[in-house]
Amino acid sequence: MKQVLVGGQYGDEGKGKISSYLAIKDAPEIVARGGVGPNAGHKVLYEGKWYSLRMLPSGFVNPNSKVMIGAGVSVDPEVFMKEIEMTNTDGRVFVDKRCTTITQKHKEEDAAAALSKKIGTTKTGCGPSVTSRARRDAVLMQDVPEMQKYVVDVADAVHKAKDVFVEGSQGFMLSCLYGTYPFVTSKDVSASTIAADVGLGPTSIEQVIMVIKAYTTRVGNGPFPSEIEVEESVKLNFQEYGTVTGRPRRTSPELHWEDLNFAAQVNSATQIAVTKVDIRFPGNEGKTKYDELTAEARMFIDQVEAKLGVPVTLIGTGPDAKHIIDRRDKML
Ligand code: IMP
Ligand code: MG
Repeated sequence: MKQVLVGGQYGDEGKGKISSYLAIKDAPEIVARGGVGPNAGHKVLYEGKWYSLRMLPSGFVNPNSKVMIGAGVSVDPEVFMKEIEMTNTDGRVFVDKRCTTITQKHKEEDAAAALSKKIGTTKTGCGPSVTSRARRDAVLMQDVPEMQKYVVDVADAVHKAKDVFVEGSQGFMLSCLYGTYPFVTSKDVSASTIAADVGLGPTSIEQVIMVIKAYTTRVGNGPFPSEIEVEESVKLNFQEYGTVTGRPRRTSPELHWEDLNFAAQVNSATQIAVTKVDIRFPGNEGKTKYDELTAEARMFIDQVEAKLGVPVTLIGTGPDAKHIIDRRDKML
């Protein structure tokens, strides 16, 4: 089966945790990463150790899965090499020959541009590398000497494999097409584009899992309804800090239903994963069975299903991959 996982909000929905669980549980032959590039930060808790990833998919936690980065992703060779070392995955990690290379110049441009101030970009060189690609003067991965060892045809590999798990990055509201333009990332990040990023067409995708957090956060500038002050967010235990930039995330204690509905539509989500239910509803930490959730938490899950018309199949109740309720057998 080929599955795509995407973010339904402003990134940082907890995709890393859901991906790492599914990689272990479903044991796909290939875990592949789509999305923009190293502007993404995924935090994965695996066997008692935290990993902060920006290039590799969180599914690396399954030692039997091949780890691949799709053609649509901008790759920073420096970050890539560091993460291979950190995760000890050398030998089973590959990048598509067509990936756009992020150069030092791209990073400098991203940090210096007036735009980075206006939009609040991550300064990781992603936007400028996408611009280079469009200008037709980008360097592709196949032309970077030190990367030759890792270069393959990911599109061909995912086409031939039976079970593939594709991880998107960022979130729907940051999509360059459908998000809060101009306060967005440099590409569309909806399920169709994430699939295309790794070389899969729409009819080959069986499941689209849209991840949402039980409250809403945003890093960087742009519109953000029902935002609360940091102090209030700290009191609610909602306050988070960016994985890539370390900036405090902006918080809204609410779910933005209209946006989420639109996100579910455009992504053609077949499943919803809700994360951090234990943070929003204390008393649910580490729960692994639906019946063990508090009445309040169960009502919330029912509300998500009713509002979005999509089954909530996965419920996150803590940071570890094991802290999850998996209802896929009952809901699909
Ligand atoms: P850029 O993608 O670095 O150009 O940044 C554009 C906007 O998207 C900024 O507001 C960033 O903070 C935001 N952004 C980009 N990637 C992520 C992500 O993975 N999580 C959360 N916000 C992101
Ligand atoms: Mg993140």
